[in-house]
Amino acid sequence: MQPPVKYEPTIESLNRHPLPRWYAGAKLGIFIHYGLYSVPGWAPLLHPEHDFRNPDYIKNNPYAEWYYNVMRIDGSPTQAYHREHYGANFNYYDFAPMFNAANKKWKPEEWAKVFRAAGARYVVLTTKHHEGFTLWPSAVKNPTLLADRQHAERDVVGELTDAVRKQGMHMGLYYSGGYDWTFVPGPIKTPSDYQSVKPESEAYGAYANAQIHELIERYHPSVLWNDIDWPKTGKAMEVEADYYNAVPDGVIDDRFGIAHADFTSPEYQKLDQISEKKWEECRGLGRSFGYNRAEGEAETIAPADLIALLVDIVSKNGNLLLDVGPEADGTIAPVQMERLQALGAWLKQNGEAIYDTHPWERAVGQTVEGDDLRFTIRAGTLYITVLGEPKARTLTFEGIAPRQLTKVEVLGRRGYLKWKADGDNLQVALPEHLPGSDAYVFKLTSYVR
Ligand code: GLC
Repeated sequence: MQPPVKYEPTIESLNRHPLPRWYAGAKLGIFIHYGLYSVPGWAPLLHPEHDFRNPDYIKNNPYAEWYYNVMRIDGSPTQAYHREHYGANFNYYDFAPMFNAANKKWKPEEWAKVFRAAGARYVVLTTKHHEGFTLWPSAVKNPTLLADRQHAERDVVGELTDAVRKQGMHMGLYYSGGYDWTFVPGPIKTPSDYQSVKPESEAYGAYANAQIHELIERYHPSVLWNDIDWPKTGKAMEVEADYYNAVPDGVIDDRFGIAHADFTSPEYQKLDQISEKKWEECRGLGRSFGYNRAEGEAETIAPADLIALLVDIVSKNGNLLLDVGPEADGTIAPVQMERLQALGAWLKQNGEAIYDTHPWERAVGQTVEGDDLRFTIRAGTLYITVLGEPKARTLTFEGIAPRQLTKVEVLGRRGYLKWKADGDNLQVALPEHLPGSDAYVFKLTSYVR
């Protein structure tokens, strides 16, 4: 389908938007949750899973970015934490001067270098989360917050956008269209509140519409990542058409409440088979998107599991939007830095099997020896990733029938490996030492017909 010269605010016109190659091939993005909640940076660790509809979950929400909501639920651990550390009468928005003071130490170029070294091809920053505070000096005045509580003193969005683009990555922006606790404060205490606390007034619709247009015009984001929903009074289709007309190779997520999206956005969920529709799993390195000082090794995904997660997602036509929750002064916790460095080191050696690849006829396979495999292809080359340590010195890849001229090698090591066909299987003798760790990629050139 030819993209329209000018997008109109209709589903028909929006659905003619082609998925840009940069996004289809990027595979890894870094999500950043940064805001007033980064000051207290705390949430209970009682719920390892994310069963959002469980009332006990809402009271013990592991999402530290929901601090303001949970601190107002009587008897919640977050309320107790707040009273103990700040006092019962400390108003949440009084974190603003503390945020601005800490943010003075923040170095956007350092973040950008860390994300680039982790192998990310794009970054998505929270510009306004459910709390309503903005990370750019919006000209659209918030009707309820005091003047010096509305937005960060620095143009955090602008500074990071420049730093990220300088490192050759795309810059995307998150906006919480569906919740704004300065318009409808809630709190959300029961599953039915998830719907009733969504602001739908004319005033909020106009406010959200004006702010997202401001973000589009000021920063031309490559990803428009709206969260929760979009107010019916906020003209979602107009927003999306204006966005594509301003950023034709931009992409939009599926949380605007209308039947158009460039990608779906499962959260802390991966798919169990190849999806024709592009998708992007978003999740934290731990259980939270915002910084949670209570999280340590046990709560943070292990490097080998993180690498396996990325390979699994890519083999099924997905991207991973991996979240970092920095402290208010911009510090990224060592436990998070370590995972980013491990992922970067792995992608440095094996990125060829990830970036700009496509799913093969199947995503998952195994060896006769019991190894777990994932497949990706690009330009006639099949990449077979063995997740974890190989279970034998000779591996028999089930249902892989090489052609005479197929060459087999391991990424990160020079030289071809000996192989022989064994019925419908491919048998490969492994070299003494396999380069790298956690997962190993076998490259089969001129395999795919
Ligand atoms: C959910 C959470 C929100 C988080 C978002 C990221 O909507 O409410 O806190 O920012 O997911 O996917």
